[in-house]
This record gives sequence, C-alpha cells and structure tokens, in this order.
Amino acid sequence: MTSVIPSTQGPTSEHDLFSDYTLSNTEEVYAELRSLGTVVYLAKNDVYAITRYEAIRSANADPSIFSSKQVAFNQQMNEVLAGTSLAADPPEHSKLRSILTDNLSPRAMRSMKSTIYADADTLVKQLVERKHFDGMADLSVAFPVSVVLDLIGVQGEKRAKILPWGEAAFNLLGPMNQRAQDSFPLAGELFKWTHEEMKGEDLAEGSIGRAVWQAAERGEIAPESFGYLVHQILAAGMDTTIATIGNMIQLLADHPEQYAKLRENPSLISSALAETLRFRTPAPAFGRVTTQDIDVDGTVIPKGSQVALLYGSGNRDETKYENADAFDVTRNPVDHLSFGYGIHGCAGQGLAKLEIFGLMEAWLKYVERFTVEDVVPRLNNVSRPINSMTVRVL
Ligand code: HEM
Repeated sequence: MTSVIPSTQGPTSEHDLFSDYTLSNTEEVYAELRSLGTVVYLAKNDVYAITRYEAIRSANADPSIFSSKQVAFNQQMNEVLAGTSLAADPPEHSKLRSILTDNLSPRAMRSMKSTIYADADTLVKQLVERKHFDGMADLSVAFPVSVVLDLIGVQGEKRAKILPWGEAAFNLLGPMNQRAQDSFPLAGELFKWTHEEMKGEDLAEGSIGRAVWQAAERGEIAPESFGYLVHQILAAGMDTTIATIGNMIQLLADHPEQYAKLRENPSLISSALAETLRFRTPAPAFGRVTTQDIDVDGTVIPKGSQVALLYGSGNRDETKYENADAFDVTRNPVDHLSFGYGIHGCAGQGLAKLEIFGLMEAWLKYVERFTVEDVVPRLNNVSRPINSMTVRVL
C-alpha cells in the first residue's frame, strides 16, 4: 500500500488517515508511516503527515511556520473555529486562551478537587456493588459529562444533548467525509446554542459559565468570549476525557499484572495515566498549515500545505520511547504528546487529570480484580472513544 518515490518530495503513502481501516488500526498504520519517514505525503488526504516525536514537538514549538489556521482538515470547520484559541496564532492566541486558562487554572481546579473526588467515590462504589456494568455509558461517559455540565452550569434537557454534540465536534475536525457531513447538523446546534441562544440565567448560580456571562455583562471581557469559552469546554472537554477513562480501564483489565502493580502502589496513578495517554492517544491527529517552505528531516513541505501532526505516532516512536509498544504503568512518560505541546497544549488537562485521578483512586480502593469484555469501538475522525464494554468486578 505504500511506496517511496525517489524525489525531494519524500515518501508517499496511499493510506487515508480518516478511513475506517486507519481509524480501526491506527497504531499499525502509523507504524508503517513512521517506517517510511519523518514526513510522509498522503495523496488521498492531500496532507503531509509528520510521524516522529521530535519533529512533531519542533513543529508545535514554531507556530509562526506551523499555523493553527487549519487545525481541522476541512475549510468549513476552520472557518467556524476562527475566533477560538484552538485555531488562532500569536498574538491573538494568548488573548483568547487567557479567558480559558483563568477558569481552568490550577487554583480553580484545587477548589473543585474535593467535590470531584467525592462524586467519583460515590459513582465507583455504586457500580462496584452492581458487579457488572457498561464501562463506557455508566462510568467513562457518565462521570466527565456530569462534571463538565456542572462546571458550566448547564441545566435541564440540554444536558442530554452534550454527548452527541461533543462527538460531532470531533468528527468535524477531520476531512468532509461521510462521518463529518453527518455531524454537521449536530455541531451546528451546539454552536447556535452557545453563541446565540444561551443566556446567563440559564446557567446554575455559582458555575463558571454564569461567572463568565456576568463578566461579559460588566464589560470586563468581550461579549462573544462567553460563547467561545462554553463551546470550547463542551466540544474539547468531552470525547477525549471519555476515551481516556475507557482506555485506562480496558488497558488495566487487559494487563492484570500492571493493575496489580498499581494497586500495590497507588502513587503510580499519575504514571499509569501518562502511560495510558501515550499508549493509546485519544485524539491522534491534529492539523496545521505551513506559512513558508520548510525542510523537516530532509523533506521539504511547501508553503500553504495541510499538515497532520500525528501525536499518536510520536507517542509510539521507538527512537523516543524504549519498548514503545509495551504498556508499562511504571514508565511515567510525562512528555507524551497526547495533550499536544507548546502554546496550544491542552488548556483542560488539569480538569481531565482531576477527574481521572478521582476515579482511579476510588477504583483502586474498591476493585481488587476485574475483567473487560465485549468491547465495541466507535469510529470518529479525530477522537478514539470505545462505544461500549462490559466490566465485571470479580
Ligand atoms: C484526556 C483528555 C484530553 C485530551 C487527550 C486532550 C487533548 C488535547 C490536545 C491534543 C490539544 C491540542 C490541539 C492542537 O495541537 O491543536 C488540546 C487543546 C485544547 N483542549 Fe484538550 N484534551 C483533553 C481534555 C480537555 C478538557 C477536559 C478541556 C476543557 C475543559 C479541554 C480543552 C482544550 C482546549 C480549550 C484546547 C485548545 C487550547 C489552545 O489552543 O490554546 N481539553 N487538547
């Protein structure tokens, strides 16, 4: 399926980054691309994929050359995203990001910790008493959805819409294939709600959403910041966290010897989470566009090209991580690429970690041994959630 053409253009491949096949065999396809070169041109996507860890980090360190104006792989979505920190370059980026980071700062997270940990404990205890349950709907989905909705202060029937909206937003980061086209109406609903319909009084008293709305009313921030803040948290904060919780439970069930190590030494939770994120990257490819011709490891990417930063490939780069295809909860790969790197590094990682730490602490407390079976994947252009899986507590 792949070939190396003898020109300065470098290696090319016939793989489609967003086909059912690639989305179902991501690690295998990425390993093949990595073996071809640091930069591989994918004709089906008209994309230059960057496959190696160091080159991905270097690209992220230079947003003046690798611009986020094409963070999505289709133009319509890039237009929708204009005005978000995700799709902005310096100097606009820092202004747009500051409104997010103010509300997701370590200080803000500290104040939420005890509630999140207590809620995680209650949920896990209830599920463990049931002995078997759906590890996705009942745990990996239920928990972050309720945390994020409470954070923003969403109330009433809109709560049920959030999950399909979040999933649609991730499909639309890919090219305009069928998956993305099917997602357009749903993603449009989310955008309309956050940017046109939502009012401060719809949001719960004391929530971040209500506070941002009030700040906009007082003229302390631009009125449109409210919609973007809520939209980014809802769209970016859901599918990735859900996928990570599901992946962690499944990987620990598949590697009981690793779970035993973690249970023996719960201070490894942080290391095990970093390893889960490295081993199975929740959002394995993000887009960029080059602002000038740029030589990456001997291949010239022309100015104006769509680039794919393959975080999922960099995370398995054998020149970076020894024994990269092994899942090892003691590895502690804090420099993994699953939260990106540089100015666009994930603004919500503190919240995601808090949720997952809370759940894992409770899990270790209540669960000695468990199995996972009937794992049904769900294909999404840019995130990698499991659809459902049966967890049995032994
Ligand atoms: C395990 C869970 C998560 C993963 C794996 C993840 C992954 C990522 C990645 C890879 C990026 C960088 C995109 C790029 O390079 O262009 C990013 C950015 C971002 N994430 Fe997350 N994310 C997670 C959770 C969250 C949560 C919970 C929130 C919000 C509450 C959030 C909000 C954001 C925002 C706003 C950005 C854009 C930052 C910027 O461009 O300055 N993420 N995330």
